[in-house]
Amino acid sequence: MDSSETFSKPVQSWDDSYLLHIPMIDKQHKRFIMLFDTLSELNSQGDASNHLYEFIDELEKYTHCHFTTEEKLMSDALVVESEIRSHQLQHQVFVKKVEEFKVASRYNNVVLSEQMIQFMRKWFLMHIKLTDSKYADAIKSYLNSKSE
Ligand SMILES: [Fe+2]
Repeated sequence: MDSSETFSKPVQSWDDSYLLHIPMIDKQHKRFIMLFDTLSELNSQGDASNHLYEFIDELEKYTHCHFTTEEKLMSDALVVESEIRSHQLQHQVFVKKVEEFKVASRYNNVVLSEQMIQFMRKWFLMHIKLTDSKYADAIKSYLNSKSE
């Protein structure tokens, strides 16, 4: 597969079906998609500049911040411990992918980096639909009860 083939593959993007209707979480989820877009853009320019590394650092920090937010909300919403634990394990898979991407980016391999960005993007969107969505109602009830 040559690089033009890789880049012509349609990328999965954000649409409102990914909304969980928890403003704080939705905002963070959208930010990830914007980060993936920026990473793809910088990577496709073959631009192994500080910009790319800055955004990879941001992805790393934002991942930590976002997963911490979600896990805390689940805990506050009294989701059972075993379910929080299994959700955390899924988050750890993504954290590992970000670490692998960070290492791979140093090789300046545009095709490999793009494949990894697309993998993270798909993983993230699938995770929202299959996992985060399961806890959205519990979190919404918790947040509503707090604001009453
Ligand atoms: Fe999650």
